[in-house]
Amino acid sequence: MTTSYTDIKRLFEQRKNNPLYNTSYPLSPDDWAKYSTRGALPFDSSKPIALYIHIPFCKQICSFCEYTKMCVPSKELQRNYFNALINDIERFISFYPNVTLYGLDIGGGTPTAVAADIFAGFISWLSEFISDRKVTADFEPSIEGSFDTLVDNYLGKHRSYYIAQAGIKRLSLGVQSTSSDVLNQLHRNAVSPKKMREAIAYWHKKGICKINLDLMYGLPGQTIETIRQDISVIQELNPEQVTVYEFRTNQLKNKYKTDSENCYAQYCELFKGLTQLGYNGEFGRNTFSIDPIDCGLSSYLRHRMFEGWQYKGFGISAQSMSRFGIAYNSGKNQYIGKMIDSAWLIDNNYSYESPTYYQLPREELLSKFIAISGYSGGFSLSAAKELYGSDFISDYQHIIHFLVNENLALIIGDRLQLTKLGFHHYGAIMSLFYTI
Ligand SMILES: C[S@@+](CC[C@H](N)C(=O)[O-])C[C@H]1O[C@@H](n2cnc3c(N)ncnc32)[C@H](O)[C@@H]1O
Ligand code: SF4
Repeated sequence: MTTSYTDIKRLFEQRKNNPLYNTSYPLSPDDWAKYSTRGALPFDSSKPIALYIHIPFCKQICSFCEYTKMCVPSKELQRNYFNALINDIERFISFYPNVTLYGLDIGGGTPTAVAADIFAGFISWLSEFISDRKVTADFEPSIEGSFDTLVDNYLGKHRSYYIAQAGIKRLSLGVQSTSSDVLNQLHRNAVSPKKMREAIAYWHKKGICKINLDLMYGLPGQTIETIRQDISVIQELNPEQVTVYEFRTNQLKNKYKTDSENCYAQYCELFKGLTQLGYNGEFGRNTFSIDPIDCGLSSYLRHRMFEGWQYKGFGISAQSMSRFGIAYNSGKNQYIGKMIDSAWLIDNNYSYESPTYYQLPREELLSKFIAISGYSGGFSLSAAKELYGSDFISDYQHIIHFLVNENLALIIGDRLQLTKLGFHHYGAIMSLFYTI
């Protein structure tokens, strides 16, 4: 680790305008090859755990998307996928039968894009599964979806009925941009504000009380004007939560270029607009919430991002983390089309579990935690100590000193929080804590 002030400053200056440094870590999967270990990632059964369930199916594929996804396949193949998911979840729980759940997120992809009867079957299985488990007092399951799979037709409404029935109170939907000029060139259709407003009113009536809308910034074609239009649509829709994502391009094979000044200016516009509408959010954080005591996240993401708690992922490419390391299910950075065929599933015992995991040293666990905490514009010092050890502050004192001295970060209570100047270059700052 670099300890001289001049070297830390040089590294920071070198990385300042490199969009590769953001909330993704490691920068390349090869960086962890030496830690690969055979077996299943162990968890601490005395501590709460969150489950993440990945559904990789989408109605159409947006060209800006970095996630593991594919077009919705035939019903038979969808069924195969859900059978494998249930198989993996049941097997995992048989190893950790008494574990307490602190969160459960169903993400994607677009979970609401699957066939209505398959969706209903899975959600009612899940609801029974949850009722058999111990959960924390703040357990708040959440599901991702998109407006175009949930509005406009009877079946779409049917899906939201099952979501509410299963006790899932938080629904998170991608809007990205409200400009059809921006969306169309990214292979995505815009949904009119009127339809979105009607859908939100319908879901509220059904008992889904928290709607989160995702917006993006830094996308090709987005300008301060389109961002202002997004804010005025948010004013009209009035969702409980808004999440804003800077366009990341790490996985997109140089298809797009982003401009950090542009991104910063658009984030500032979003921050100003959302806080003027009455949303609570700290500068540098990507979540905004009407309720001042709600930080705008599901319980899974909240504890994972703010405290570094363990989580277990299910489905193609899903990620898991515990204090022993990190595991990626089969399919990470791969063509996934074959992995729902019966032949593939039979060969792989109807499972997406990886036969290996990365047994990580504490420096790497810390790097991963700090990278993901980048979404909140800083990180918790006590969570860093919990992962790394009580010598965290002394081992990283040179970096912390540099950041505070250059007015890039402040220590506020338990948090190292980026200043406005620091947030401008958050990726380069977080990367100073990385091992590379
Ligand atoms: C896993 S996606 C699921 C959303 C849902 N399928 C939809 O499109 O409405 C969750 C969010 O990730 C964000 N996202 C997707 N691609 C991204 C990228 N390349 N960089 C940053 N955020 C991205 C979008 O805001 C999206 O709503
Ligand atoms: S943004 Fe959503 S709908 Fe578009 S490809 Fe990604 S996961 Fe699918």
